[in-house]
Amino acid sequence: MRIDILTLFPKMFDGFLNESIIKRAIEKKLVEIHITNFRDFSKLNNNQVDDTPYGGGQGMVLMVEPIVEAIESLKTPESKVLLMSPQGVSYSEKKAFELKEEKHLILICGHYEGFDERIKNFIDEEISIGDYILTGGEIPAMVISDSVIRLIDGVIKKESYLEESFSNNLLDFPNYTKPRNFRGMVVPDILLSGDHKKIAEWRRNEQIKNTKAKRSDLLN
Ligand SMILES: C[S@@+](CC[C@H](N)C(=O)[O-])C[C@H]1O[C@@H](n2cnc3c(N)ncnc32)[C@H](O)[C@@H]1O
Repeated sequence: MRIDILTLFPKMFDGFLNESIIKRAIEKKLVEIHITNFRDFSKLNNNQVDDTPYGGGQGMVLMVEPIVEAIESLKTPESKVLLMSPQGVSYSEKKAFELKEEKHLILICGHYEGFDERIKNFIDEEISIGDYILTGGEIPAMVISDSVIRLIDGVIKKESYLEESFSNNLLDFPNYTKPRNFRGMVVPDILLSGDHKKIAEWRRNEQIKNTKAKRSDLLN
């Protein structure tokens, strides 16, 4: 998979791309990530990419032209173009599984007051990572990239993500590690029994219990 991220703040991605699982996925060539500063596509003085809103009002609006030119320089028939926007459909693990099947994602990060509305004619989908407003689309682009990359074959073990929260609409079961006894709080005996069938049953029951208690909406 290839992911292109269009942003005005490329340095925000330095840590994200150079640590842990994402770094290893890039090194193993399981994913290719390219960061493009769409300021480079401005034809105006000082590489201007934003201006005041028509009709008046607060803040600056991102111009349509440099972003569209950046998209067009990267887009192929296999690309899916996603706009980071609080007005988009809510992002979910289900969506991450869908996006994992794509060959090429182009993620567009807004800033300031957001985009000139005409950008909507050049994208496939608007995606929101939640009902709150961030200063820019960089963190949403990292959220989407991270959640998709970890599902790509070879990045982490398949068994790891198939047992996690939201797979099969259930939350995860409780996990424990050493020490066995921490201040009187002990690890459930079943996990030390060595009986893998019983452990699997216990974990499944705990998943259902946990989901009922915390997110009964998932069971519907
Ligand atoms: C300050 S926000 C603009 C919000 C816009 N004026 C509105 O009310 O819909 C700047 C940019 O951050 C990104 N952004 C902010 N919150 C987001 C969210 N919850 N999900 C995805 N992107 C978000 C978008 O790219 C947005 O264009």
